[in-house]
Order: sequence, then C-alpha cells, then structure tokens
Amino acid sequence: MRTTILDIRKMKRNHQRIAMVTAYDAISARLVEQAGIPMILVGDSLGMVVQGNDTTVQVTLADMIYHTRLVMRGTQKALVVADLPFMTYKISPEQALTNAARLMQEGGDPGAVKMEGGAAIAPTVARVTAAGIPVMAHIGLTPQSVHQLGGWRAQGKDVDSAKTLLEDALALEQAGAFAIVLETIPQQVAKLISERLSIPTIGIGAGVDCDGQVQVLPDLLGLLDDIKPKHSKQYVNLADLIRGALSDYVREVEAGEFPTAAQSINADERMLAGLKKLAKGE
Ligand code: KIV
Repeated sequence: MRTTILDIRKMKRNHQRIAMVTAYDAISARLVEQAGIPMILVGDSLGMVVQGNDTTVQVTLADMIYHTRLVMRGTQKALVVADLPFMTYKISPEQALTNAARLMQEGGDPGAVKMEGGAAIAPTVARVTAAGIPVMAHIGLTPQSVHQLGGWRAQGKDVDSAKTLLEDALALEQAGAFAIVLETIPQQVAKLISERLSIPTIGIGAGVDCDGQVQVLPDLLGLLDDIKPKHSKQYVNLADLIRGALSDYVREVEAGEFPTAAQSINADERMLAGLKKLAKGE
C-alpha cells in the first residue's frame, strides 16, 4: 500500500517532519524510495535538470505524463505527486480538471498533482479536489512565473507580501489542498504560515520550521556541479564520481584492459574445433 495524503497530513499532526525529493525516472525513484522517503515529486524542474532548459516553461503535459509513468513504475510505497506544467491549469478550472485527469490516468496513477499559484487558483484547487484528485499547492517563488517575478528572487520579503502569502496559503487550504510547498521565502514567514495551517507545509529555501522539506535530487547528489542553489546541500559529489568512473572505463577500453575474461563468453570445446575449421576456410 502506498503512502496516502492522509498519512502525510497525519505526519504533521504527529510532529513528524516530512522529507520529499524529486525524481524523474524509475531508477532514481527506486533509490529514493529505498532510502525511506515517503513522498516523491515528479517536478517540472525536469525542464532544467533533465532537459537542460533555463526555466520550466517549456515542459509539456506529455513530458510530465511520461516522467510520472517512469517514477510510478520504479516505486511501490511512496506517494508520488506530479507537477501540472506551465499553463495547463491556469486558463480555467475545467482546463485544470481535464489536464489533471490526463496526468492521473496516463501518468500511471500517481497520488496527487501539484499546482503553482495563490488565492487566484483556489477555485481551481477546489474544482480538482472536489472531483477526487488530491492537490499539493505551491506558493512563494513559483518557477513557472519566473518571467513575471523578474527572476529567481526570494518572495515575501516585506510585511505586505508576507501577509499576501499567508492569505494565499489559507485560501488554498480552504480550497482543499492537502499540503503546500513554500519556496524561497523568509524562514520567519514560513514558520508563521506553518503554524497557522493544519495542512503540512513543505519548504524549499523556507527554513527549518516548515513541516517538511523538498529538494531537487540532482542538487542533493551533486550531479550538476555547476549549479549550487543557496537552499540546497550537496550530500555527495556524484558528478566527480561519475567522471572518475567513466575516465577509468575510457582508459581501460583504450588500453585493451576491458573487457576481461570475466566479462566475456567462451565457446565450448566442440565449437572451438568448428571455429578452427572455419578459420582455415574448411
Ligand atoms: O519542480 C520542482 O522540482 C518543484 C520543487 C522545486 C518544489 O516544484
């Protein structure tokens, strides 16, 4: 049985902090689950860390469906939350419902979808959750609006905008969101919101007082060693390890040291005799 949204809400009530990370394929999702992480985000950050774009804007619903299916295939226990990408839910609540339904049905049946936006999308969150699809909300630095925000800037940095964030969070909770991502806002604002909401807050760049944390997997693993966001900690430098392993491989291939007998298949005696004749042209 997979972790459910009720389990995640219970974790907040039990003061149990929630660890969440992104995954985009079956192999990494399996490792994430094996590490005991209860909730995985198939983030549209894949537009940047998998597809190599500068923003998440070019990610399509088809991309999200494909990657969500892979993550679902690689996991058995985790609650998988799939991002609805740019402009697939902001046109109308009906558009959101149609696309959320596609993501659920064609994406291998994840447990929830995620949407970026504040009180303005509360009617959409209400429509989608009323139809039976759990929604994780996302406020603060919302990457799909990076152009409107004028860049990757911290949000909620004055009292008025902090008040708006709190009102947004309350409206989204009221609309039925089961959890809410708080991205790149002052930790004191995140603490206030976390205390006021009954649903879990999941922070990224929002301090330790959120009910949980979400991180982008390649940031934690040091896979993109030229990108080191302030909000993330590199637990290992996989880029170095991978480059080292691959240069060993190149060196061994070039030196004729790979493959060895251990990686090779041998013909049996009878076949060897046949091969000898073949070599002689018999
Ligand atoms: O797409 C993503 O990975 C996200 C996280 C940064 C929260 O939305």
